[in-house]
Amino acid sequence: MTDSTMQTSAGKGRIFSGIQPTGNLHLGNYLGAIRNWVALQHDFESIYCVVDLHAITVHQDPADLRKSTREVAASLIAAGISTEQSILFNQSCVPQHAELAWIFNCVTRLGWLNRMTQFKEKAGKNRENASVGLYAYPTLMAADILTYRATHVPVGEDQKQHLELTRDIAQAFNSIYDKDVFPLPEPQIFGSATRVMSFRDGRAKMSKSDPSDNSRINMTDDADMIMQKIRKAKTDPDALPSEMAGLADRPEASNLVGIYAALAECSTDDVLAEFGGRGFGDFKPALGDLAVAKLSPIGAEMRRLLENPADIDAILADGAERAAAIARPILAEVRDIVGFLGSSTDR
Ligand code: TRP
Repeated sequence: MTDSTMQTSAGKGRIFSGIQPTGNLHLGNYLGAIRNWVALQHDFESIYCVVDLHAITVHQDPADLRKSTREVAASLIAAGISTEQSILFNQSCVPQHAELAWIFNCVTRLGWLNRMTQFKEKAGKNRENASVGLYAYPTLMAADILTYRATHVPVGEDQKQHLELTRDIAQAFNSIYDKDVFPLPEPQIFGSATRVMSFRDGRAKMSKSDPSDNSRINMTDDADMIMQKIRKAKTDPDALPSEMAGLADRPEASNLVGIYAALAECSTDDVLAEFGGRGFGDFKPALGDLAVAKLSPIGAEMRRLLENPADIDAILADGAERAAAIARPILAEVRDIVGFLGSSTDR
């Protein structure tokens, strides 16, 4: 493989990552993924994608899908993704993803997909009724990444198996066609400190689908709302310990300390060094102030962006244009390797 296929012109690696278009983006999404994307964009050439093709593997109401796609794009921009330095777009606008996914469907073995734990979880008991798209979700994800020959993929722990499959698919394609076309992308798994739990139950993940809005901080919540939710968050009557060992079996307390550390960008030990011995009456207002300082400007910017949906659409269209410019020559090469005559009309 030549340098030019592996590396970008700047000599940095190339990142690709995807995020599902969902409503109710919350603190867990921010600390779990979005913030990491923002940090990484300076060290890599970064391509970030709102994965609407993946979203429809389970039915989506069309109006909701449009709304969520804009909301997720707005959250990324508001959180600091540079739409000039990085590329931000929605997946369905670059048809090379779907084209390469089909080709990958033809080199991927049924046995490999049968092992995917996310499919088993999402399909549940009624597997016969799951869509073929849900089953093939991982081959589309491999196509997302390899359409750009991305070298690094920042994802949460839950996507590790899909990344391993992506490497298997890249290797299989290279070996079947005896060509070094695709790099084997490296997963960059986010740290464990980013597991944000529900404010109602410290053992359940913070979730967009929890019926209680008080269980989460939404990215669009304003300062008053953030304060109020932190004040109401479930805790226990004890003071904070001065060491992490004292938080064992105190899931709600651990969660709030973890969130404080993540927002302050310090360790949980540092937080306990400061707040050990003090009760939640002291800690919650401090956490509230910190959360408001970090999150409310993002929420305000998101709300502002969402008032002008046409501007968001224009940003995504520009991103799609720039993404396609990278994807087209790579797909042309792949088509040629596979033996397809001619070229897709999109070129
Ligand atoms: N499956 C990922 C998730 O649910 C989203 C995703 C789609 C993705 N395509 C991707 C992540 C490519 C990384 C790279 O979180």
